[in-house]
Parts: sequence; structure tokens; C-alpha cells
Amino acid sequence: MADYDLVIGGGTVVTPSDMFRADVGVRDGRIAAVGIGLRGERTIDADGLLVMPGGVDSHCHIEQLQPAGGADEETFVTGSTSALAGGTTSVITFSTQFKGHGILAPLAEYRRRAAQAMVDYSFHQIITDASDEVIFNELPQVVASGVRSLKVFLTYDPLHLDDRQFLRVLAAARRTGALVTVHCENYEAIRWRTAALLADGKTAPKYHAWSRPAVIEREATHRAIALAEMVDQPIQIFHVSCPEVAEEISRARARGVKVWGETCPQYLVLSAADMDRPGFEGAKFMCSPAPRDAAASEGLWKTLHDGVLDVVSSDHSGWSYGTPAGKRVNGVDAPFRDIPNGVPGLGARLPIMFSEGVSKGRMDACAFVRLIATNPARLFGLYPRKGTIAPGADADLVLWDPKRVVKVTNQLMQHVIDYTPYDGMEVTGWPVTTIRRGEVVMRDGIVQAEPGSGQFLAREPYDLIKPTGRLPFGFDASAFPV
Ligand code: URP
Ligand code: ZN
Ligand code: ZN
Repeated sequence: MADYDLVIGGGTVVTPSDMFRADVGVRDGRIAAVGIGLRGERTIDADGLLVMPGGVDSHCHIEQLQPAGGADEETFVTGSTSALAGGTTSVITFSTQFKGHGILAPLAEYRRRAAQAMVDYSFHQIITDASDEVIFNELPQVVASGVRSLKVFLTYDPLHLDDRQFLRVLAAARRTGALVTVHCENYEAIRWRTAALLADGKTAPKYHAWSRPAVIEREATHRAIALAEMVDQPIQIFHVSCPEVAEEISRARARGVKVWGETCPQYLVLSAADMDRPGFEGAKFMCSPAPRDAAASEGLWKTLHDGVLDVVSSDHSGWSYGTPAGKRVNGVDAPFRDIPNGVPGLGARLPIMFSEGVSKGRMDACAFVRLIATNPARLFGLYPRKGTIAPGADADLVLWDPKRVVKVTNQLMQHVIDYTPYDGMEVTGWPVTTIRRGEVVMRDGIVQAEPGSGQFLAREPYDLIKPTGRLPFGFDASAFPV
């Protein structure tokens, strides 16, 4: 009689720290054993393949409600399809607050929508209005329900928080036990630069990058870290676009601040020059912060190598190029200020990172696994259930052909968005099978999962988000509620 429901046999298992030939035995949706000669009721032959943990994408926007009404085109079904096609089995997406409103009702609505997901999922709660009701009543309930991370924006109308509101959120996170993730760009500096550019007739997509240079990302990152340090609250800096910004994180970590940083494939392989394509084409590459240049990308690879940045997420935020509600919602002559920001990347994240990272010799496969699965799982309280291959972990696996050469097309991404910014890129390394909690949900590009088969991941308190206990002289943690 077989010992396991499923055995993935004869592959090279890649964990965050090791690579070795072994079988993986799965029982009841979990990894039950890693060893040699395992016997299962079913066996998948993984000879010649890497067997890696399913990707954990800790920053992607799916079916997000928009202030003007409606929701992102990418639904939990289409977003899940793209994720599974690309080897990702868990996502953390967002629940948004609109100014003047609470956070309990939107979270209930996102939970209702996400019930269709085919990947496992959690949420970051976006706070755009740090009212007393939200800070003292609703936020503790949201966090207690397992949504143990918040996102704040230091820029963007109508999302941005001023420093005092940001401090209120940081203090509330400290009291309730949540990690705060931060979009760091200087709100007033962008508005000032944007007004000047538009007054000068500089309206094309490429001026998006001119309106928000790296220095204003660096300033906001420095400020976010300083305010978090003052309150002794752990934070993660989202979508770091260049090494100057990463340097702020590195300096703060050296003095013991609990701050982590994420980057995304768009900052590693795209650049501001992509926004300078003819006509409206540059809009396809517009995201914030803006992609920089080749030197910045090379510097970012080094920060990944050195561990200064330790997560690579997609920041999937899809706006179709050809549809009236997408990038051209305000017309193809819209000034850069009025073009929606964000690029799709759920399905592309792993192939781009593997090809540019592992296949090009910038990192080994263990480092790849850490960046795309283990570290995001650890940082957001999902580890060791997610992000590794070890007995007891969920059997979320991606079987990877490290030699397969593929030209990226939008069709291969399997998202609802009508383009990919990586169109035409040749990658070496491709996911051939995705397994979620022991179930084969993608094989040779065919995604077969039931809508609603994804599970909500309620996150319990965990050590990494505990404050350090070091507060500046005279600062009383119990006197926070202001
Ligand atoms: O341009 C971006 N990054 N759009 C998504 C929203 C965000 O700021 O993460
Ligand atoms: Zn952001
Ligand atoms: Zn984002």
C-alpha cells in the first residue's frame, strides 16, 4: 500500500537553503516527507525538473474597488489563473478604504469577492483616513480577523496620508500587532513637479518619470523609516525602484530598525526609456515609483544579492491598453498625470526572476526561492505553512524546467489584461506544473482549478512584527492614543 497520496519523484528539491535530489511525499494536502524511494498512489515524474515552493506574491492588486466606482478588471478568477500559470500559489492583495468611510464594510466586500479565488489569499488593509473610529474601533477588529498587515500611501490623490495620520496608523499597528507597508514618494514634490511639467506642455507618458525622480522616493523612504523608528513599529517599504532608496533601508537596519524592502521585476528589467515609446505606447510601462535606468536595475540586483531587499513581488496592477476603462480611460492624449498607474505581472514574476536571476548567474535557485516565496511568507506571517518544502508545510509546489526557453507573450500570462510589459522577452526557465495543497492545478499551461477552491489565510501574531522595545527617550508607548 502506498504511503502517500502523491509523490513527486526524482526531481531536484530546492529549499531556501539547499538543493538536492529527492522525492516529495504529499498526504492530505501537506508535505509529509522529503526522501528517497517514496511510494505514492500517484506519482509525478520530476526527473530533470526543479521542485520549488509555490510562489508567494505578497503585493498584487486584484479586483480592487476604485474611488470613481467599479473594480479592477483583473478578477479573483482571472488573477488566480495567471498566478497559477506562473507558479504562484498564494497572494496577498488589498482591501481599500475610501476617505470618509470605514474599513470593516470594504473588507467584508473583498472577502465576498475573493471567495472565488483559486489561489490561497490574504489582504493588506489600506488606510486612507485615520479617523478615530477606524483607528480605535475598526482596525483592531480587522487585524484580529487575521489581516495582519496595513498599507499606507505617502502620495497619490485621493489615498495619501499626511505624517500625523501616518503616525496614528503606525501607533495603531503597534498596539494591535500588524506590519505596516508603505508607498514612499513625496506627495507635494510630485504635485509641484507635475504642475511645472504640464504648464510647460510636457504631457507625454515619459514625463511621468520626470515628475517623480528617485530623490523624492528616497526622501519619503527616509521619512517613513524615521517615523516608524520613533514609534518603534516594524515596516516594509514597497516597490523600491533603485539602490539609493535601498540604501536608506540598509542604514536603518544597521542601527537596529525593523525595516524590510521589496522590489519588483519592473524595476529590474524595465526602465524610464520604455515610457518614451511612440504615441501612447509608453503608458503600458507607467507605474509608481517609475522604473529608472539600467544602472539602477543593476544596483538593485546587488541589493537582492546582499539581502538589503529580500522580497520580489509583482505589484500586479493591471489596466488594459486597448479598452476604454484601462490606460486610455481619459483618452490617448491624456496628460501623464491622468493615466492610471500600474503594470500587470502576476504570471510573469517567476519566469522573469528565474531567467534574469538564476539563468543569467546573478543568484542560485535557493536565493530565487527565498525572494519569491520564503521571505514574503516569513515577513507576512505565512511561514512555515507557505514558502518552503518541509514536512507539515502545505504542498504548494511548482515543478520548473530550468532549460526551457520561452518567448513571453500576453497569451501565456493568462490574465485578463490585454498586454504584458514583458512581451517578446526570451526567458530561460518555465513552470510546467503547479500544485496547490496537493492538487495539480496547472499542467503544461492548462490551469484546472475550481473557482472558490482558494483558501483565506488568517494570519496569527508572529515574532517578526513585534516591536524592538527601544523607544526614543521620554516617549511613552502607553500614551499613543492621540
Ligand atoms: O503604479 C503602481 N504601483 N500601481 C499600483 C498601486 C501601488 O502604488 O502599489
Ligand atoms: Zn504603492
Ligand atoms: Zn501596489
